[in-house]
Amino acid sequence: MASVNGVRDNLELCFVFFVFFLSLASGQLSSTYYDSSCPKALSTIRSAVRAAVAKEHRMGASLLRLHFHDCFVNGCDGSVLLDDTASFTGEKTAGPNDMSLRGFDVVDSIKSQVESVCPQVVSCADILAVAARDSVVALGGPSWTVQLGRRDSTTASLSNANNDLPAPTSDLSTLISAFAKKGLSSSDMVALSGSHTIGQARCTTFRNRVYDDSNINSSFATSKQSGCPRSGSDDQLSPLDTFTPSFFDGCYYKNLVDNKGLLHSDQELYNGGSTDSQVSNYVKNPAKFFTDFATAMVKMGRISPLLSPSGEVRVNCRKTN
Ligand code: HEM
Ligand SMILES: *[C@@H]1O[C@H](CO)[C@@H](O)[C@H](O)[C@H]1NC(C)=O
Repeated sequence: MASVNGVRDNLELCFVFFVFFLSLASGQLSSTYYDSSCPKALSTIRSAVRAAVAKEHRMGASLLRLHFHDCFVNGCDGSVLLDDTASFTGEKTAGPNDMSLRGFDVVDSIKSQVESVCPQVVSCADILAVAARDSVVALGGPSWTVQLGRRDSTTASLSNANNDLPAPTSDLSTLISAFAKKGLSSSDMVALSGSHTIGQARCTTFRNRVYDDSNINSSFATSKQSGCPRSGSDDQLSPLDTFTPSFFDGCYYKNLVDNKGLLHSDQELYNGGSTDSQVSNYVKNPAKFFTDFATAMVKMGRISPLLSPSGEVRVNCRKTN
């Protein structure tokens, strides 16, 4: 009897070890992923992001958006960073990205600083996730613990970038389903849209809103029209949050309640639909926006990551190894 139990215990022990090694081999996201392999990874990224944001506040917005555009296209796998070549088509020329995404040089600089402390250990996808968090913090927003261990893709998808990134012309139900497709709720969508409390948009993305929408404050519309003529000046910039574009705060939602959302898609969050109450709640309680935003960013960062042994750690974020 004792020996039978002994055999069973050994088998159970083996099984436990088997599962343990399996999970090491297949990998999973963890906040301590680089603690022993690259203890300086997080501090190196943080100081590089702080320097970049101090030099240009908008860079914080641009880095945050890169992580979003990475995660929504085949998961958070660094695919957005791959350059086009004669034989490779990346995502940079997709409608939502072309002439719009920025910060690639800053990512290159962060990556080379990280490479110099630990060569080929920290993925580009993880750098984007950490840089997004550090950018929000640098501009006065909430902090959160970043899950790590994403690997970089060797592929990209122009068509998924065109299909899966929501357009500024979207109505509420289209926005809700675009996020649902990525496992994010309507409430995550409203919280994450609070990112538009920082950064800039081009005239071409809000022209129809300021000329044709009726749910817009008329003096706001007139002032936005002056920087965005009916035709031409497509690339003329306007802050997404007119009042505090360099501060990560809850003013975005106050703008919506005042019918001063810059994008049509922004104003859809407060236009008589199911998300109105969440928006007015955030106006009353900005701290709730901060905690919901942080939680939703962690969720977004978990969208189908590439895990070891899949993918690679790119040496140069712009090309596969
Ligand atoms: C809800 C659906 C969303 C739509 C339709 C949308 C659309 C846009 C558009 C059209 C712009 C201006 C781009 C340009 O003119 O070049 C923009 C900028 C921006 N978006 Fe979104 N976005 C959405 C959600 C998000 C999310 C979830 C995040 C981050 C988690 C985000 C972060 C940003 C940031 C920070 C900027 C400013 C970037 C800069 O100044 O460089 N957006 N977005
Ligand atoms: C539109 O915004 C202006 C300027 O903030 C404000 O004075 C006005 O009352 C607003 N109009 C409406 C209809 O809310």
